[in-house]
Amino acid sequence: MKIVVTGGAGYIGSHAVQLLLEQGHSVSVVDNLYRGHAAALDRLRAEMDPGDRLRLHEANCTDFDAVRPALEGADAVMHFAALTYVGESVEQPLEYHRVNTGGMVTLLRACAEQGVERFIFSSTAATYGEPAEQPIRETTPQNPINPYGASKLAAERVLRDHGEACRRAGVPFASAALRYFNVAGADPTGVLGEWHKPETHLVPLVIDAARGVRESITVFGRDYPTPDGTCIRDYVHVRDLVEAHAAVLGALEPGDARHYNIGTGRGLSVDAIIESVRRVSGRDFRVADGARRAGDPPELVADPSRIAEEIGWRARFTEIDETVRAAWDWFETNPKGYDEG
Ligand SMILES: NC(=O)c1ccc[n+]([C@@H]2O[C@H](COP(=O)([O-])OP(=O)(O)OC[C@H]3O[C@@H](n4cnc5c(N)ncnc54)[C@H](O)[C@@H]3O)[C@@H](O)[C@H]2O)c1
Repeated sequence: MKIVVTGGAGYIGSHAVQLLLEQGHSVSVVDNLYRGHAAALDRLRAEMDPGDRLRLHEANCTDFDAVRPALEGADAVMHFAALTYVGESVEQPLEYHRVNTGGMVTLLRACAEQGVERFIFSSTAATYGEPAEQPIRETTPQNPINPYGASKLAAERVLRDHGEACRRAGVPFASAALRYFNVAGADPTGVLGEWHKPETHLVPLVIDAARGVRESITVFGRDYPTPDGTCIRDYVHVRDLVEAHAAVLGALEPGDARHYNIGTGRGLSVDAIIESVRRVSGRDFRVADGARRAGDPPELVADPSRIAEEIGWRARFTEIDETVRAAWDWFETNPKGYDEG
């Protein structure tokens, strides 16, 4: 198949590109390189020699004329491109809606023009806000509490409305919105990893403390109603996540509008992640205590049973030390990430 991967130079998107190339697909990456790395794709070229099965279209996903050539002849789109920082979204809500909601509109218009029949969207647990029930099911009400989550929920609704219009018009189109929980880890073969600037995710931040790149790691709140008082999240390995995309792609049938939570179903506290990094790295480091941050729910854990029952995907990396080790190994081998080329 020819698959368009928007945001394919980013953390998760590049891991998806790698898997799709392994599976023999042709991949057209659409990325404006705002927060992605051409070096990640260069590494894939060097390791996998995909020839013209891998192309980079340096384009903004909000620019219809720029994205449409990439979609010519495509069988499917995996849409990862987005702005992803919660704090930034509070400062710049219009930019988040322009890129995240508007990018969806532009891509679906281009899909309609080019006859692309399958679409998989990177949604997020942030669309649930502060849910009243745990674990979170796909039917749990979505009430985002920041513009990032709101822009992703709006994009889900644009996708749903477009799918319904296609069904009514008899146009073949199938979609899935995958709501990821906390993504972590790195490509087990060591070629790709996570390199965000700035970094906001817990696993790489704790690893930075273990490597001495940061003085300490701050725990925001120790008075949550959880067993050790710190927030609980569900950490899914990036390789498992991209395998879920491939499985969903293979399962989509015309008319589908699927929604799946993607997580392990297991919650781990901030302290548990710190302990895992200590075990994996064999290093000790300073832990500082900070105040709670506004909008940090005590617990966000997926119920991933729907995707398991419907298409048989479940997370393979269920031991946090395996996920942390993959990330640790990446940073040990690539202390400057993609910056060193
Ligand atoms: N990392 C997580 O834990 C997590 C959790 C839930 C959902 N998600 C979603 O997964 C997707 C990928 O996240 P990530 O962590 O890989 O982020 P990332 O920032 O590493 O990758 C995003 C990519 O999109 C590109 N991009 C941004 N704006 C663009 C635009 N206007 N046009 C074209 N390209 C653009 C960036 O250059 C980058 O390569 C995002 O949609 C994010 O919302 C991530």
